[in-house]
Amino acid sequence: NTNGLKAGKTRNIIEKIEEAGKNCIIFYGSQTGTAEDYASRLAKEGKSRFGLETMVADLEDYDYDNLDQLPEDKSADPPLGTLKYVTFGLGNNTYEHYNSMVRNVDKALTKLGAHRIGDAGEGDDGAGTMEEDFLAWKEPMWAALAKKMGLEEREAQYEPIFGIVEREGLTKESQEVYVGEPNKMHLEGAARGPFNAHNPYIAPIVESKEIFNVKDRNCLHMEVDISGSNLSYQTGDHIAIWPTNAGQEVDYFLDILGLTEKRDTVISVKALEPTAKVPFPTPTTFDAIARYHMEICAPISRQFVATLAAFAPDESSKAEMTKLGQDKDYFHEKVSKYHYNLAGLLRTVGGGQRWSNVPFSAFIEGLTKLQPRYYSISSSSAVQPKKISITAVVESQLIPGRADPFQGVATNYLLALKQKQNGEPNPKPYGLTYEICGPRNKYDGIHVPVHVRHSNFKLPSDPSKPIIMIGPGTGVAPFRGFVQERAKQAEDGESVGKTILFFGCRKRSEDFMYESEWEERKRALGDAFEMPIAFSRDGPKKVYVQHLLKERSKEINELLEKKAYVYVCGDAANMAREVNTVLAQIISEQRGIPEAKAEEIVKNMRASNQYQEDVWS
Ligand code: FAD
Ligand code: 2AM
Repeated sequence: NTNGLKAGKTRNIIEKIEEAGKNCIIFYGSQTGTAEDYASRLAKEGKSRFGLETMVADLEDYDYDNLDQLPEDKSADPPLGTLKYVTFGLGNNTYEHYNSMVRNVDKALTKLGAHRIGDAGEGDDGAGTMEEDFLAWKEPMWAALAKKMGLEEREAQYEPIFGIVEREGLTKESQEVYVGEPNKMHLEGAARGPFNAHNPYIAPIVESKEIFNVKDRNCLHMEVDISGSNLSYQTGDHIAIWPTNAGQEVDYFLDILGLTEKRDTVISVKALEPTAKVPFPTPTTFDAIARYHMEICAPISRQFVATLAAFAPDESSKAEMTKLGQDKDYFHEKVSKYHYNLAGLLRTVGGGQRWSNVPFSAFIEGLTKLQPRYYSISSSSAVQPKKISITAVVESQLIPGRADPFQGVATNYLLALKQKQNGEPNPKPYGLTYEICGPRNKYDGIHVPVHVRHSNFKLPSDPSKPIIMIGPGTGVAPFRGFVQERAKQAEDGESVGKTILFFGCRKRSEDFMYESEWEERKRALGDAFEMPIAFSRDGPKKVYVQHLLKERSKEINELLEKKAYVYVCGDAANMAREVNTVLAQIISEQRGIPEAKAEEIVKNMRASNQYQEDVWS
């Protein structure tokens, strides 16, 4: 595979560690940056606590056919007999193949003769315990590793991984300074394709509107124009939105670090460690880093809190940070429960004192890179190939005991873009920023950086096949596209099979999304289209999509026997799981077979793509 081949970089891991003088490699595979972050933290700890010469390595950057030369050249059986390893997997138990990647790797390494030290660790994002699972696994792992390798633990001293140099002579207006541009091409004002997960397309938003009919909740419908790019999509794909942090959060963050005055100071950031990567382009400014490149609002790692204790502004803050770092329950009680972000925590603990003693490198190490958020495309590529629809519920939660609401990063950013586009006031107390790619942006109108991610969530190629779609709430997003597509096929004279969409929302008058559109589709599709709706808060009793499925057991079973495709989209934690259970119950009852057998049938439906999920938690 030459995809990951970058000029001058070796794909030979043995060569790499010899050249860099390393004896411990932490490999990671990361889509959202969490695994990458954990890998860096382990590397840092291995070095500071145990004197290991650590490095991190992206799995896709290397080849593995010479692993038998680690740690020394070896041709005898078993091939990996001298290799020692530990594993930790990041997974989500709401998905079927929970942590199967790490389990398979672990099995394969053992089979090839490598020796695992300590227990294999697994983190569960589905249960919301990823960070705690990681911390609980890490300590016994280090103890086992130190024992096995005869390492002595030493008093860990913080050593920065990144060096920060102020660039006198440069200002934020200087042409070579990144003030929000994602990469060099954008800096040069020539955003060129191909546009992908490393290089977003700055797409015009051609329409944006509110589709809920209620004051305290927002659901946005947006249309993004991709005609000026190489981007293409297929019905059922995902669009990634690259957000920026809210202006107020940036101010708050810079203020508590004592960086307000220096926010526009130009700095160069360099990795002091040959295998570390600076996670944003430089030279840049503190403001640009906080605004465009780091998750300053995300949940805080407890380990990071412990690191920060050493730099607290006074003894009592130091003691409090140490306690928060050590005591999981206390941390939950004081921090997680209120959804505090880093600035909120530092302000609470230090009573408003500035945390100017913390080396800025610690924040680059302790916070994750600002991640794009994915949305299920809610249009059909057959109907509008160059315009992508998005349907997003704005994340805003009132939290008991906290004065201001918790507000999600990307959805409030989209809300601000919509308000700006329509000349509406921004009624929230937040001065949300809508700057795109920095103050130098040369775009007319409202834009948003995006890329497209292809998915396997696809309509059957033969439109006459029946389909059953289950998508309450924003789970309806891809089905808007599916039904659009089937309606077009019908209008084009094709024979379109049964098309049933199970939708659910709270109240007909409040959050029944796209109400008038469904009627139009019905005109095109006729009796082939049906849309049973579960209004959960209109009647005396909660009604959910799975209850409606159950009511139609006989028909559902008949459709399944005719090989109808089943699609589930939306909440992974409860809804998708309950729908899965109900489908197995329906099959069991209608066919008079034991539940275990019915569950097996559902499993096989998944394996053969007759049952497809597009779910998130
Ligand atoms: P974020 O800021 O990312 O917050 C999200 C959640 O993280 C919060 O609710 C909270 O639980 C937690 N959190 C964040 N910060 C903290 C903190 N400091 N302390 C404690 N907890 C915290 N959404 C849609 O509306 N429509 C779609 O079509 C859609 N499709 C999706 C498809 C896929 C494949 C995936 C993976 C997700 C999809 N989502 C969709 C969800 C979407 O990607 C976002 O997760 C969602 O919009 C929230 O993003 P945000 O940046 O506004 O919130
Ligand atoms: P509720 O909020 O009234 O409980 C979209 O969010 C719809 O999904 C709402 O009507 C919501 O109902 C409903 N919902 C909540 N939990 C669900 C579950 N476990 N299964 C199916 N639908 C659910």
